[in-house]
Amino acid sequence: MNIILVGAQWGDEGKGKIIDAMTEKSDIVVRTQGGNNAGHTVKVGNEKFVLHLIPSGILHSKVKCVIGNGVVIDPISLVIEIEGLEKRGIKTKGRLFVSQTAHVVFPYHREIDALRETSKGTLKIGTTKRGIGPTYSDKASRTGLRIQDLYRADFPEKLKKRVSEANKLIVAGGAKPVSFSKTLKTYEEAAKKLKPYITNTVVWLHQAMEKKVEMLFEGAQGTFLDIDFGTYPYVTSSNTTAGGSSTGSGIPPHWMNRVMGCVKAYTTRVGEGPFPTEDDALSDRLHAMGREFGSTTGRARRCGWFDAVFTHYSRMINGIDDLAITNLDGLDEVKEIRVCVAYKLKGKTIHHPPTDLDEMAQCKPVYKVFKGWMTSTVKAKRFNDLPPLARTYVKALAELMGTRLKIVSVGPNRDQTIWL
Ligand code: GDP
Ligand code: IMO
Ligand code: MG
Repeated sequence: MNIILVGAQWGDEGKGKIIDAMTEKSDIVVRTQGGNNAGHTVKVGNEKFVLHLIPSGILHSKVKCVIGNGVVIDPISLVIEIEGLEKRGIKTKGRLFVSQTAHVVFPYHREIDALRETSKGTLKIGTTKRGIGPTYSDKASRTGLRIQDLYRADFPEKLKKRVSEANKLIVAGGAKPVSFSKTLKTYEEAAKKLKPYITNTVVWLHQAMEKKVEMLFEGAQGTFLDIDFGTYPYVTSSNTTAGGSSTGSGIPPHWMNRVMGCVKAYTTRVGEGPFPTEDDALSDRLHAMGREFGSTTGRARRCGWFDAVFTHYSRMINGIDDLAITNLDGLDEVKEIRVCVAYKLKGKTIHHPPTDLDEMAQCKPVYKVFKGWMTSTVKAKRFNDLPPLARTYVKALAELMGTRLKIVSVGPNRDQTIWL
C-alpha cells in the first residue's frame, strides 16, 4: 500500500507526528516538494525532533528515506540536519537517499527572498525566508542548478555566473552582495559530505517497488499554500497537494493507493493571506497555553476555527480517503466550538472558497456551534475513551469533509494517537 499524506489546511497540521505514527507500517518515506521551509515535529518520549528536509520516517531505524526530485535542497541545511541526527544516535548512511536532480537553494536565493519580503512596493507574503520561491523560480526559468551540478567540473564557472546575475538584483535592492568564493567553498564542502547520499532516486524507488515495499509520501506545507490551489499569491512555490507526490518522486499516480489528509481540530496559518475563520480570542488562548509557535521560524501562528468549506475543497483536490485530526486537546477547555460550514457572499450562501481574494475578504463565515467537552482528552487511548461531545465533534468534521475518520491525536507524543 502506497499512501500520500497531505496537509489539508495551511500547513503545520501535525504531519510529522502522523507520519511517525504511520511509519510503523511502512518501509520507505519520501519527501517530494518544498524544502527547509517545512518544520515537522516528532516527539519520541522526552525527545523532540524537528525535521526540515529529511523525512520524519528517519526516526524509525528499519525505514529508508528519500528526498525526491521535487524538493529544493539547501545543502548546508541538509548537512546540519544529518549531523544533528547522527549526534543523537540516528543513523542516516544507507538509509537516506537524495535525488541528484533536486534543485539547489543558494545564499542568493535566500537574499532575494528576504529582499522581496522587506522592500517597499513588493508584496509581503510572510515567507520563511529560506529562498524557496526564488529557487523554484529559477527551476521554472531553467536557470537553476541541480544537486548533480555540484559535482561537475564546470560548477565554479556556472556558480560564478549565477552569483553575479543575482548580485545585480541584490545590490539594486540595497543589500550586500553574496560572496562567490565563500559560497563555492561552503557548497563544495557540503557536496563532499552529501556525496554518499546522492543517487538517482527515481531508479532507486522503482527498484525498491519490485520488492513490494510500502511507501509513505510525506507532504510538506498544506493544500491552501499550494501554488495552484492555494490562496494565491499568499502561497508557497510548489504543489503541496497529492499530485505533487508523483511529479516530485517519479512514482506514477496510479501506483498511489490512498490519500490521508491531516487537519488540526481548529485552523492555523503562518504568514500573510486570507483566513476567514481567524479568531483573536482563540489565538490568545492557544498561545497562552504555549502552543502554536512555528517549528521553523518560531513565529506565532494565527489561529481560528475549523473551516469545513476550505477542507471540503481540500478533500476534492487531494482525493482524501482517510482523515487524521490532530490537536483535539487544544479545544479541551473551549465552551463553544465553532465550525465554518458555509460562507455568505453578497447575500448568497456559498459552499466553495472563492478564488478571488477580494471576494474572499467579503465572505462571512456561517458557523455551526458545537458544545465543548470541557475535560482533558490527553490520556485517551481508544476512541471510546474520548468524551461523547469530543467524539461528536471529530465525527462531524470528517462528515463535513466527506472523508473517513482514521486517526485522532490528543497530544504530541506517539502514545497519544488513537486509531479508528
Ligand atoms: P507539521 O508541519 O504538519 O509536521 O506540524 P508542526 O510540527 O509544524 O506543528 C504541529 C505541532 O503540533 C507540533 O508542535 C507537534 O508536536 C504538535 N502536535 C501534533 N499533534 C498534536 C496533538 O494532537 N496535540 C498536541 N498538543 N500537539 C500536537
Ligand atoms: P510545514 O511543512 C506552515 C508558509 C509561510 C508563508 C508561505 C510562503 O511545516 O507544514 P515560503 O517560505 O514557502 O516561500 O513561504 O508559506 N509556509 C508554511 N506555513 N507550514 C509550513 O510547512 C510552511 N512552509 C511555508 O509562512 O506564508
Ligand atoms: Mg510545520
